[in-house]
Amino acid sequence: MSNGGKAMVIIMKTIAVLTSGGDAPGMNAAVRAVVRTACVNDIKVLGVVRGYNGLINGDFVELDLRSVSDIIHRGGTKLYSARSAEFATEEGMRKAIRTCKEYGIEGVVVIGGDGSFRGARDLSERGIPCVGIPGTIDNDIACCDYTIGYDTCLNTIMDCVDRVRDTTESHDRCTVVEVMGRRAGYLALNAGIAVGATSILIPEIDFDIQKDVIERMQRTQRTDKKHFLVVVAEGVGVDVTELAKEIQAQTGVESRACILGHIQRGGSPTVQDRVMATRMGHYAVKELLMKNIGNRVVAAKKGDVVDYDIFEALNMEKHIDEELYQVALDVSI
Ligand code: F6P
Repeated sequence: MSNGGKAMVIIMKTIAVLTSGGDAPGMNAAVRAVVRTACVNDIKVLGVVRGYNGLINGDFVELDLRSVSDIIHRGGTKLYSARSAEFATEEGMRKAIRTCKEYGIEGVVVIGGDGSFRGARDLSERGIPCVGIPGTIDNDIACCDYTIGYDTCLNTIMDCVDRVRDTTESHDRCTVVEVMGRRAGYLALNAGIAVGATSILIPEIDFDIQKDVIERMQRTQRTDKKHFLVVVAEGVGVDVTELAKEIQAQTGVESRACILGHIQRGGSPTVQDRVMATRMGHYAVKELLMKNIGNRVVAAKKGDVVDYDIFEALNMEKHIDEELYQVALDVSI
């Protein structure tokens, strides 16, 4: 029987999904969307346990429609995560490919940050089609405006700093808050604006402690401001305890340091993270793997879900919004 000259697409029978690198709220929602989209299209899904380590060791669980029930609202990742040192070796990579072949895995969805995408690129290069979905609180993936987990993390930081603010204000103090972000300042800049920080230090923009922290505080002290928040991205490499001491010594304002740490990575995902994770997981299967398209990264661009070649995506650059930084400087006085 003729199919009218249309090219036949042979749909994959088995795919795998894994979460890798630092966990991020919304990863579960993405896994759920991948599994549901695949299952309703008769594709078997293997959930890989603990990222690339699970791919190396064949640590899989078969996932069906119901096995991903009740996870959309949960932080962390039900598949567990890892940063696999073994996968970074040639031998580890070879083992992972062998396992994929043994289990009939024809495509892998990798949910993680750019380190995880580099693993996906290397697997793709060796013949296992992969699709990356950006999942990291840091929002530091160049091809994407937004990464899954970023919005929840921003809201968590805001919530924590609002609490810190209560006590900072009650004691006429300054609190220097360190936030995560690895080498990027997206979390610090946006959270800093949201909490009304007097100074925000991020790795992308040069700063001078004297001019950008001490003198700004002294200027606002003269307008009768008595409590202060300074938000510091971990990527700037400033010791916040030392900075708090320096501020106290120079301004006379009693100061404390507060390192938010891993609390930022947990918690129930926000609406935005759940919706985008669902859209991206669905897209990875329906628009890519089901059309036999691999070696791609799913991305959010201006509110749309799009995809890029994984090699190109990893060579792209992303820049901090300097105008936004200026807005923070102008308003937090
Ligand atoms: O990439 C996510 C992230 O939370 C970064 O913000 C932070 O620098 C890093 O992971 C912390 O990693 P770990 O959980 O291994 O300490």
